[in-house]
Amino acid sequence: MKTTISVIKADIGGFPGHVSVHKECMEIADKELGAAKNNGLINDYRIMRCGDDLELIMSHTKGINNEEIHKLAWDTFIKATEKAKSLKLYGAGQDLLSDSFSGNVKGMGPGVAEIEFEERKSDPLIIFMADKTAPGAWNLPLYKIFADPFNTAGLVIDPKMHDGFVFEVHDVIDNKRIELKCPEESYDLLSLIGATDRYCVKSVKKKNGEICSVSSTQRLNFMAGRYIGKDDPVCIVRAQSGFPAVGEVLEPFAFPFMVKGWMRGSHHGPFMPVPFEKANPSRFDGPPRVIAAGFQVSNGMLIGPSDLFDDPSFDKARAETNLIADYIRRHGPFEPHRLPMDEMEYTTLPGVLEKLKSRFEVIE
Ligand code: F6R
Ligand code: MG
Ligand code: MG
Repeated sequence: MKTTISVIKADIGGFPGHVSVHKECMEIADKELGAAKNNGLINDYRIMRCGDDLELIMSHTKGINNEEIHKLAWDTFIKATEKAKSLKLYGAGQDLLSDSFSGNVKGMGPGVAEIEFEERKSDPLIIFMADKTAPGAWNLPLYKIFADPFNTAGLVIDPKMHDGFVFEVHDVIDNKRIELKCPEESYDLLSLIGATDRYCVKSVKKKNGEICSVSSTQRLNFMAGRYIGKDDPVCIVRAQSGFPAVGEVLEPFAFPFMVKGWMRGSHHGPFMPVPFEKANPSRFDGPPRVIAAGFQVSNGMLIGPSDLFDDPSFDKARAETNLIADYIRRHGPFEPHRLPMDEMEYTTLPGVLEKLKSRFEVIE
């Protein structure tokens, strides 16, 4: 029997502002998923949070895109939103774009990453959860994990990985997908996924079709037609025995690379790997955070999580993040700290430009 891991997340209201999720909202989610476990709909679950995003991690046998599982997540977000509203938490229900559920949470606001696989003898799995950034943030680490031999020694020295991997890339603007093989097509792959605003790595497979990684690629602001926050994505990666080792999967985050998001979803900033309890982006609503939850999947149950960035070997990345944050913050409203204009389409900037429009004069 195959096991499915569904990670479905939403910002149901921040405490305070956009910093974290209130404990009482997490308790509501725990109660709802606890009931679903008791009645057999799901095998196991964990309630987590990264910044102001409530993360539902569910293990079950119903496959991906299952209506009952999506409805469970939706109803849980609705109940947590009611609590958030009663506490007047900030932006309560901001990610729930519809009043009623229509079969699948995709396109309704929440972010979704789901992976279905036949359990191996032992199945280590890492769930990355981010806040104050967008799905393109996974492009660089996924490339390093599955295609860069300077990151992943196994690509060179493990015969089970030597063949390389296949990347499924989504064009989130034109709604198209393409598969590219690595190492053969790695330059083509990089030419696309270097444009993190448009092309996002959706999944990675082995060449025999075995699934290794799945990311959420929802673009909330595109769905809503106005800016309501970055998408704060999640990514699931399987590890070991022919997949990259846990340490190879984590290694890219030792470099605090630049991502889009941070204050008002309109800035470049360094991506800071933190332990679970430190995912409280408060400085200038950031800098963007990532946590890594490690599990062993065992007969449909979730053994874990292990807090994988709770390790002094990531202290240097955190210190570097703070240096980079100081440096780039000094640019204030100037690019490249502020995103270029075309990427600020859904912010308040167009309103300001509209106001000034009539005052522009032609230069002779
Ligand atoms: C970033 C984010 C925050 C808000 C900012 C302004 O994704 O959600 O940085 O954009 O706090 O929020 P409002 O306009 O609601 O006051
Ligand atoms: Mg928020
Ligand atoms: Mg968020």
